[in-house]
Amino acid sequence: MKVYTKKEEIAKVTLALKQDNASVGMVPTMGALHEGHLQLVIKALETNNVVVVSIFVNPTQFDNVEDLEKYPRTLEQDIKLLETVSTSRISVYAPSVEDIYEGNTTSETFDFDGLEFEMEGKFRQGHFDGVGTIVKRLLDIVKPNHAYFGEKDFQQLQIVKKLVEKHAMPVTVVGCSIHREASGLAMSSRNTRLTAAHKKEAPFIYKVLKTAKSKFGTESAIEVLEWVDNQFKANALLELEYFLIADVATLKPIEQKLHNKKYRAFIAVYAGDIRLIDNIALN
Ligand code: PAF
Repeated sequence: MKVYTKKEEIAKVTLALKQDNASVGMVPTMGALHEGHLQLVIKALETNNVVVVSIFVNPTQFDNVEDLEKYPRTLEQDIKLLETVSTSRISVYAPSVEDIYEGNTTSETFDFDGLEFEMEGKFRQGHFDGVGTIVKRLLDIVKPNHAYFGEKDFQQLQIVKKLVEKHAMPVTVVGCSIHREASGLAMSSRNTRLTAAHKKEAPFIYKVLKTAKSKFGTESAIEVLEWVDNQFKANALLELEYFLIADVATLKPIEQKLHNKKYRAFIAVYAGDIRLIDNIALN
């Protein structure tokens, strides 16, 4: 598998492919790859001749230095995992911070029409400016035909779609459904950092989401919100940071449902010092 570390090199490769009428897919990641990432790569391979997987722990999207330092960096293992899918049709772009930021490791400021101020934006200062900055740079360098993002980070997916729309970037953003462990826990690189006790308890999050979904069919939004809150008050191992029901288009939280709207429930939970997020479509 080819691994590129310089933007000029990967840009040259993808430009040549596109000049040959090949379709290029891109899966941006921060590494510590797992089955969830592989599903994105497999989906990208179905539509594109070649897939570029970027592996870059982006410093500007972390609001917590300790989280950035502790983020797993497992490039060799990641490459081995990607090779189980294809050795010839996947290229890795694993740049240094210098290659991306050229000595100025700061975010640009974006206007995502308010999507950035909801949920994760409230709890993670500057996070979406960091995500916007890196995604825009990666797409500008690789210039893929299609870029693939998981729905686990549903707010990020909506924000990336907005980024591409607002900057008229010539790429189609493809959202991919959440890949779960057999227990129901949404796959995440952070899961490897859970203690055994937290790992055992964490599937509770999806269990609550599924019940919240079925309650949403017959009960008011307020009743569902209260019910979820009480479930976590009674759980000694998991601490609820937020649970909310939001309009899919605006991501604004609601307390009353309207008939012609699409809603999704979003949750963030601390399992010890590991922060886990998940979400589910409600209607
Ligand atoms: O979802 C992620 O892993 C990251 O936020 C992304 C999109 C690769 C940007 O660093």
